[in-house]
Amino acid sequence: MSIHQDIEQVLYTEEELRRRVKELGRQITADYAGREPMLVSVLRGSYIFMADLTRAISLDVTVDFMAVSSYGAGTVSSGQVEIKKDLSDSIEGKDLIVVEDILDSGNTLYYMMDVLRARQPASIRICTLMDKPERRTKPITADYVGFTIPDAFIVGYGLDYAEKYRNLPYVGVLKPSVYDHK
Ligand code: IMP
Ligand code: MG
Repeated sequence: MSIHQDIEQVLYTEEELRRRVKELGRQITADYAGREPMLVSVLRGSYIFMADLTRAISLDVTVDFMAVSSYGAGTVSSGQVEIKKDLSDSIEGKDLIVVEDILDSGNTLYYMMDVLRARQPASIRICTLMDKPERRTKPITADYVGFTIPDAFIVGYGLDYAEKYRNLPYVGVLKPSVYDHK
């Protein structure tokens, strides 16, 4: 059994991801010149993007991690967001960049932004690898977007379905037969 056989179509190859992440890194490097941003990765989906993005930024940066859950094992947001693991450090007075894998309904980030703002960072911006604007139900937009994609369930490069497929080196559309059980 191969993880590749459950993929209907490759959306972004390893090379396309690499090139786009480098561009985002250059843009952040330019925008934050003279500052020391703190990158907050939203686990688990953004771990690979985070690793590549931080290496594409040539500034002093710090990193921290937060885990939230909103999906259970399904493909549609439940709307219920829960902090599973909190940040290790204080963010007060910091220039935060929240690093997400995908902005979908917006539920997760809408809730997280509330939690983070209350801790009084100097600034907060959102950097998401993928954006599905068609599905947005909360008023939230990202400051940095890797790719804007149509409404399809995608996996790979950190993104999962039921905790699997994160290790695919590319981003692909999952065959609906994988999650449509009769
Ligand atoms: P939101 O709260 O609906 O914006 O969903 C955000 C989270 O749902 C993301 O961080 C992902 O973990 C997950 N998610 C949304 N769409 C997809 C997808 O197409 N593939 C994998 N995970 C997704
Ligand atoms: Mg996520």
